[in-house]
Amino acid sequence: MRTPLIAGNWKMNGSTELVEAFGRAFADAALPAALKVAIFPPFPYLDAARRAFDGTPIRLGAQTLNPLHSGARTGEVSGSMLREFGVEYALVGHSERRQLYREGDREVCDRLLAALSAGMTPVLCVGETLEERDAGRTLDVVLRQVGFIMARLEPEQRTRVVIAYEPVWAIGTGRTATPEQAQEVMAAIRAYQAGYDRELAEGLCLLYGGSMNANNAAELLAQPDIDGGLVGGASLKVDDFLAICQSAG
Ligand code: PGA
Repeated sequence: MRTPLIAGNWKMNGSTELVEAFGRAFADAALPAALKVAIFPPFPYLDAARRAFDGTPIRLGAQTLNPLHSGARTGEVSGSMLREFGVEYALVGHSERRQLYREGDREVCDRLLAALSAGMTPVLCVGETLEERDAGRTLDVVLRQVGFIMARLEPEQRTRVVIAYEPVWAIGTGRTATPEQAQEVMAAIRAYQAGYDRELAEGLCLLYGGSMNANNAAELLAQPDIDGGLVGGASLKVDDFLAICQSAG
């Protein structure tokens, strides 16, 4: 049995006040017994979040990290620094990073390897644009993104990666993939992993991301290959995020 994971990607949003509100709300929230929860706040809030989330089920994630351990990389943050602040997860390959900061597959791979070597769980984000979907290229694009990374990992490293399928056209648009659309792609990702190892595929934690909210989460999470969610906008509202977590039981 795979344990569901609900991850909240705050992007460049949030405040100390929001961090504290999450800490209070999750301190005594009734949540499904087998559930992992993680919040990915902007870097400046990590320390406050670590304190506010102490004693709650919320684990910490980082939205990106540099491939290097340290050095002349102005503005960047390394995996070892994040580990010092108790960060357990790191997003890599988010479509905003791929598009706005021109991160290609090779760079995504370097960042993912850095997360692994720092002892964190990388959450590899993949997904097609609307143009690619309309051209019937969804599975090609997504499996190429997954395949590029998997081919460069050792078998043991493959077991430590979470994959988030986020159709680019569904991110921040209010337009969610239907449960069937999401399931089709996510089943294909699991089948791809089975090409390496059946046990790896069975254990793989697959998240759906793209306008997941308190109203559509249960239906998406009921799909056999959807093990959790990567939630953007709705992770900024305590009640909505709690409701999504509660629907993951
Ligand atoms: P959204 O963002 O839930 O606001 O669509 C998801 C994401 O970008 O991870």
